[in-house]
Amino acid sequence: MLKGKRIILGISGGIAAYKSPLIIRLLKQKGASVQVVCTQNALKFVTLPVLETLSENSVYLDVFPKNRAYSTEHISITDNADAMLVAPATGNVIGKFASGIADDALSTTFMAFDKPVFIAPAMNTKMWLSPIVQRNVKMLSELKHILIGPGEGDLACGYAGAGRMSEPQEIVDSLEAFFSSKSLSGKKVLVTAGPTFEKIDPVRYIGNFSSGKMGYAIASVLASRGAEVVLVSGPVSIAADPKVELIATESAMQMHQACLKQFPKCDAAIMAAAVADFRPADFSNKKLKKENTDSLTIKLEKNPDILAELGSKKKKGQIVIGFALETDNEVENARKKLNNKKADLIVLNSLNDAGSGFMHNTNSIVLVDRTGKPIKYPLMSKTEAAAIVVDALEALLNVKK
Ligand code: C5P
Repeated sequence: MLKGKRIILGISGGIAAYKSPLIIRLLKQKGASVQVVCTQNALKFVTLPVLETLSENSVYLDVFPKNRAYSTEHISITDNADAMLVAPATGNVIGKFASGIADDALSTTFMAFDKPVFIAPAMNTKMWLSPIVQRNVKMLSELKHILIGPGEGDLACGYAGAGRMSEPQEIVDSLEAFFSSKSLSGKKVLVTAGPTFEKIDPVRYIGNFSSGKMGYAIASVLASRGAEVVLVSGPVSIAADPKVELIATESAMQMHQACLKQFPKCDAAIMAAAVADFRPADFSNKKLKKENTDSLTIKLEKNPDILAELGSKKKKGQIVIGFALETDNEVENARKKLNNKKADLIVLNSLNDAGSGFMHNTNSIVLVDRTGKPIKYPLMSKTEAAAIVVDALEALLNVKK
């Protein structure tokens, strides 16, 4: 979808600029052409030869180049571009963009570009949270510019928190989503994601290691293709795509209720949640004490199997896709799940594949359906895997692209 697209990549002077060359590579790998525009300060973090070699293009840096009497490059560059991305965007350039200051190559190009610009902020947490920066990003969002991130994590200044530039892959995925076809418009899809927490007492629960990343990536890909998405999520620490309706749940019983309510209004369901099979039979209102006992037995009772219920009892023409995480007899077990739960497709992840399954940003999946041989895909980002699952859903829904 980025093939043949002409992208302007604006780079400003923050430490995250060391990742900008990777963004260029990813864009080029997708078949886009890249025109870099950068500030003088960006070159303190990344060099011209790197940017020019990777982009296979000269970098636009100077509004008044010495060897040219006349230059309006900021206009001609924008005339030819399909999208503009600024990554990293420092607090300073965000401030300039929001206030209409155009005093260098990047800010004049931004002002001349007449479509929404993708902005990936990167700065120290205190700067990011400052009221001025927050006001500026709000203003840019209201003007329909598209913010990517920032994420949370370790920052170069020693702080940890919000302000970290989104990873290059995520940034490129956002651009790709922007150009993707709206093949699912008019369709409503229910997605489940994350773990469930089954309470033992007010401070303890039984849970699992699901991060929610796979289901959240699916929700985001669906939304980018124009679907209306209801994401029923267990407790996770990642943010949902703003285009998605998020229903936050905690336990399997809550997730079950939310799914039963949403499913009749949907054309399909993709169940990526790692739902606990059992919950404590008795919830203790008071914290269980360790005194006076050397062992503790917690009686468990079975949770409803949401996928099986939707697939075998509630389905009225909807497509239902489930996941299976297996350690042995993988395809055989996935087939059993397909039949027992009356799903239309099972997406199998193996815990035996390095980089696949819980917590990772990557996954290697096998699609198991009723028609034929299982299809195995190589290790890829969860966003790419999500796109494959959504392609399969489109085929099942018989959506015309
Ligand atoms: O049976 P198993 O847990 O391996 O099946 C996994 C699939 O079933 C996943 O799609 C998961 O979201 C779904 N599931 C469910 N409700 C349960 C257990 C699993 O929807 N109680």
